[in-house]
Amino acid sequence: SDGYDLHICCMGAGYVGGPTMAVIAANCPKIRVCVVDLSKKIIDAWNSPDLPIYEPGLMEVVEKSRGKNLFFSTDIDAEIKKADIIFISVNTPTKTVGIGAGRAANVKNCELCARKIAEVSEGSKIVVEKSTVPVRTAEAVRRVLDCNEKGLKFQVLSNPEFLAEGTAIPDLMKPDRVLIGGVQSPEGLAAAEALVSVYANWVPREQILTTNLWSSELAKLVANAFLAQRVSSINSISALCEATGANVSEITRAVGMDNRIGKRFLNSSIGFGGSCFQKDILNLVYLCETYGLRECAEYWNQVIVMNDYQKKRFSEKMVSTLFNTVTGKKIAILGFAFKKDTGDVRETPSMFVVRDLVHEQAKVHVYDPQVKREDMWTEMDYTCKMSVANYPGLEEAVTTAPDAYAACDGAHALAVLTEWDEFKELDYERIYKSMAKPAFVFDGRNILDHDALRKIGFEVHAIGKPD
Ligand code: NAD
Ligand code: UGA
Repeated sequence: SDGYDLHICCMGAGYVGGPTMAVIAANCPKIRVCVVDLSKKIIDAWNSPDLPIYEPGLMEVVEKSRGKNLFFSTDIDAEIKKADIIFISVNTPTKTVGIGAGRAANVKNCELCARKIAEVSEGSKIVVEKSTVPVRTAEAVRRVLDCNEKGLKFQVLSNPEFLAEGTAIPDLMKPDRVLIGGVQSPEGLAAAEALVSVYANWVPREQILTTNLWSSELAKLVANAFLAQRVSSINSISALCEATGANVSEITRAVGMDNRIGKRFLNSSIGFGGSCFQKDILNLVYLCETYGLRECAEYWNQVIVMNDYQKKRFSEKMVSTLFNTVTGKKIAILGFAFKKDTGDVRETPSMFVVRDLVHEQAKVHVYDPQVKREDMWTEMDYTCKMSVANYPGLEEAVTTAPDAYAACDGAHALAVLTEWDEFKELDYERIYKSMAKPAFVFDGRNILDHDALRKIGFEVHAIGKPD
């Protein structure tokens, strides 16, 4: 006994595993928390002053506990052995090949974790699915665990994560709810209660919901589908606003003041991005199809169709506005991350605009305060199949600028694609002077003061607003 009340191990030190475990450790000094990963590079970064992800407030929370009751390690076997509770927080991306390619979620990493736990454990444990998975994955995890050769009994819980990137720390510190699904047997309920007690260190009990396993797994997909559906709904209206002279911000205000609808998550944009909305909706669509529910599948699939339309509509509008040609023109892209306050670029809508502009042979200059050039290339290669190796001239076509002013200098147009606060504070007089004329602004997030920009001399186009 090493003085701790409980030992937690988390497999997967990514956007979810790292912050979630840091917050557990900070709120539970008597629990030893260790986050493990296959990637040595990621673990080394978690142990350094330069964390592998950018998230406001994360460093402070990590520093509070790191080396005391929070550890990051690549010694997966040893940490599994020590643990009473093991979280599986690995990536579950959309399958790229095989059955359900392009829609089904790949749960390979979850199964590998279960196999590893079954192989090395020396005592019984609670295994918690933190990753977002298709409903009934816990059944597969349980069956794999049951095949252990030592006759150990594992309990499997589902505990999906609802944090959003950019606000992960406040979301984890004050969650709207914590959801814990378990088997409705005495052992299952006891396991769920053990996990409830961990969260109860800082989350009021009435906000900790316990359900059966399948409700918990499915509720996560449904929450993301509902959120994304709101964005697609308002984006569909933005197109109608542009056609009719209505103003989407006024619509959002008028509609959102109805308490039954609510005002949050109704900002029209160039489309939603991020690693989860599209993946989880496709997962839901695939599940509906698997159970023969064609109408349900088609209903949710429209959320994706509308999102693709919105992204495409934006880049097409840029080209048509710029006199139907951007060939050889410098275009400034402000923001590459999928939302503000993160460096994450997975499925970022900005990438699709950059891709379309590159196809049109524009000279694209990208500035983002947190995104590294190599991360941009990795994501463009993974999602758009566009890489420096297979697309001649790409390296020269896309410049990453050191700041917004350099990106805009001499540009024919600037497009705001991520809602970083700093883009509201730029010196637009200075930018206007440095740009080619007419100087165009495309506000893909509706964050700028359009009247002020027009007074300076810009021609402004925004989502869902009269031109
Ligand atoms: P991520 O890619 O950032 O991190 C996953 C980590 O797991 C990687 O570092 C990878 O090396 C590691 N890993 C993979 N297989 C492993 C194995 N067998 N053993 C040990 N480590 C392994 O992913 P993420 O964004 O943290 O998402 C994780 C899960 O949480 C996904 O299912 C996702 O849908 C869900 N989720 C994500 C968010 C979010 O905001 N990113 C929010 C809620 C839920
Ligand atoms: C989302 C959910 O909000 C989380 O609850 C969930 O845990 C997470 O997915 C997940 O499962 O991964 P996240 O993708 O990090 O979180 O960020 P969001 O704030 O939801 O934004 C997603 C995308 O929608 C961004 O591109 C954002 O710009 C866009 N968005 C959001 C809009 O275009 N308009 C809005 O009104 C809100």
